Amino acid sequence: MEETHFECPRCGDLLDVRYDWSRATPPRQLAEFERKWAERSEPLSFSGVWRFRELLPFARPDDVVTIGEGQTILQRADAVGQFVGLNAGRLFLQYEGLNPSGSFKDNGMTAAFTHARMVAARRAACASTGNTSASLAIFCAAGGLAKPIVFIGSGKIAYGKLAQALDYGALTIQIVGDFDDAMLRVQQVAKQIGLYLANSVNPFRLEGQKTIMYRVLESLRWEVPDWIVVPGGNLGNSSAFGKAFAELLELGLIARAPRLAIINAEGAGTLFELVEKRRLAWNDGRPNMAIAQNYYRELDAAGKKASTIASAIEINRPVNLKKALRALAVCDGVVRDVTDQEILDAKAKVGAGGLGCEPASAASVAGAKLLRSQGVIRPDERVVCILTGHLLKDPTATVAYHGTDQKQFDEVLGKRGVRRASFANRPVVVPNNLDEIIRAIELYS
Ligand code: F0G
Repeated sequence: MEETHFECPRCGDLLDVRYDWSRATPPRQLAEFERKWAERSEPLSFSGVWRFRELLPFARPDDVVTIGEGQTILQRADAVGQFVGLNAGRLFLQYEGLNPSGSFKDNGMTAAFTHARMVAARRAACASTGNTSASLAIFCAAGGLAKPIVFIGSGKIAYGKLAQALDYGALTIQIVGDFDDAMLRVQQVAKQIGLYLANSVNPFRLEGQKTIMYRVLESLRWEVPDWIVVPGGNLGNSSAFGKAFAELLELGLIARAPRLAIINAEGAGTLFELVEKRRLAWNDGRPNMAIAQNYYRELDAAGKKASTIASAIEINRPVNLKKALRALAVCDGVVRDVTDQEILDAKAKVGAGGLGCEPASAASVAGAKLLRSQGVIRPDERVVCILTGHLLKDPTATVAYHGTDQKQFDEVLGKRGVRRASFANRPVVVPNNLDEIIRAIELYS
């Protein structure tokens, strides 16, 4: 039996990784990590995750499974910043689409796989809205350790992601249902037949995802920004970011945490509803989870399912809810929701600014804009939006937005309440004729 338990057998809560720092060797200051830059021929120092291994010291170097993840960039984005309503030089985009599988998930998967190797897992599974499955599949293919099994809601994942799971050779189980259904099933199956679970219920995933924040700090030469803005789905990232800052504070490596803004899509707005409307809070470790249970009962009674063009975050029952509440407490956080219209317009601005992203990622930029308009974020504050996944993950949404095919627009976007493609870059159709082609270029360029 190779099942690995990620829940407390007594209370059912998710487990958390805790370190006895007195037995580890954390740096005395963050700038010490700069030494690793000179050791890039060493795979553990090359990795954007493991070069911070002193802050996730759960594995021996020999156990680490790395495929060169975390080579990502923080880019100053003035044009997008202007759209958001920030002064020049104040908006930065952390582009996690540069990971080997094209999303931030590789940061977590390298850590989960390292643990999977430590426990000699033979089969690894996840439920996914697409990116976790792509990441699991690439690590299985490249690391050659375990066989990948992915559970997806049928018709619920974007084409780029499905293509990856299939091409990397994962056993792909399409369940007639959505992510929340797939998540429930994968946990049952993992228990029954013993599979290594690679979803963010796995606390080692979160250890890897902490490093996204270390890289943000590294890019800002160890200065803490004012805001981190992140899309919220299963709330693994938000939870990991909160843990990263809590530990850095505990170790005295930063003087203050940034504020955290978690952005839901309106059609999958559980966290927004619970935190901002029903006042669910961490409450020093004793959140009133009955508030969430009641809300879930209401959703079930109304037959309400998550629905958003940002399919990556089309989730109504986030498994990391409690840890995300802790992150909000650590980082004096806020939660907002944004419409699919706002998401797609922000996405087009991100693309035009030079870093394409998938719809869910653009929720961060749309959320920052909303928080600016509400006066919660000030124009001179330094804001980092996390672009969680690459543009090529979801070509359907992008082409429907920019294209001229009304039927496609209605089918993909119109049914979700998207009315306009405010920043569309329309393809120009011309006859196959030299003069006409040149005339079109002169007219439009
Ligand atoms: N952005 C993208 C591109 C994602 O794929 C996800 C989650 C999120 C944001 C939300 O992150 O769950 O940490 O709050 N995707 C998961 C998956 C659920 O299965 O790929 P979160």
